[in-house]
Amino acid sequence: MDKQNKRIVLVTGATGGLGTAICKKLHDDGFHVVGNFHTKEKADKWMEERHHEGYHFDLFYGDVADFKSAGDMVKLIEEKIGPIDTLVNNAGITRDTRLVNMSPEDWYAVINTNLSSVFNCTRNVIEGMVARKFGRVINISSVNGQRGQFGQTNYSAAKAGMHGFTKSLAMEVAKYGVTVNTISPGYIATDMVMAVPEKVLTQIVAQVPLGRLGGTHEVAHLVSFLASEETSFITGANYAINGGQHVF
Ligand code: CAA
Ligand code: NAP
Repeated sequence: MDKQNKRIVLVTGATGGLGTAICKKLHDDGFHVVGNFHTKEKADKWMEERHHEGYHFDLFYGDVADFKSAGDMVKLIEEKIGPIDTLVNNAGITRDTRLVNMSPEDWYAVINTNLSSVFNCTRNVIEGMVARKFGRVINISSVNGQRGQFGQTNYSAAKAGMHGFTKSLAMEVAKYGVTVNTISPGYIATDMVMAVPEKVLTQIVAQVPLGRLGGTHEVAHLVSFLASEETSFITGANYAINGGQHVF
């Protein structure tokens, strides 16, 4: 909690499309939101844009793919702001290409940024959550971790791995009031999706029963729900939010 008795939430990849919507929704719902940024230039522009919208967020540098960098970031946040009650593991990247063309760099960049980041950040906050007997860890996975996607062996492996992490950690920390859950969004209108070739994206959207991309605010709403006090009996779950693209 901060000095105003607000829950402190850290959102990684705050300056991206989903991260921005998640920060705004959590702020509007009464959390003290701390964002993580990666590239300075993007962060400065992001702060200015949020300022114009009437938001002010605390923003801290950290490369979540690196254990030490993630640890230094958490330490600084806890010194300057207070203990982290809720962690949203949201930072992520794609390096789409068929496996026959995939380099070790494409593989490790995606695994380290999307999956090892979950270890790097969660490992640095979990002991505090357990000691305080409250915590929420929310992992942003993907529909493509649930069903696979042509050109995404690295990404699908990382995103499927995130939910394995969720299930095991949920068991370890349940009795301390800490919940761990996964959200698996379908295709949401952000820069990440806009990088998919237009022709391919049109074909993908045609397979979505709702017939459109998801909105960032729709995912943010689910994050805020899982971050709330009232969801204390939900743990180890994987919430699909994909417009019906993958039902199971
Ligand atoms: N299914 C089956 N075959 C396919 C295919 C598909 N989806 N896409 C391409 N192919 C076939 C082509 O028809 C072609 O066949 P021929 O050689 O017989 O003509 C062959 O594969 C090679 O095609 P390309 O030269 O276009 O393949 P490429 O190696 O350049 O890779 C790609 C193409 C990068 C995978 C491109 O198709 C692509 O970007 N696809 C989108 C992948 C995607 O959905 N990414 C999601 C990004 S957003 C995100 O990740 C967020 C989230 O969680 C949802
Ligand atoms: P985005 O707009 O590209 O944002 C990604 C964010 O992650 C950026 O702020 C980026 O910062 C940050 N990031 C990348 N590498 C980082 C690192 N090493 N350390 C810290 N931050 C880093 O993508 P998005 O669509 O909002 O995606 C957010 C999350 O949702 C990702 O995990 C993605 O896989 C997942 N997701 C997205 C969709 C979708 O359809 N959009 C669907 C399912 C799941 P920089 O740009 O400064 O590096």
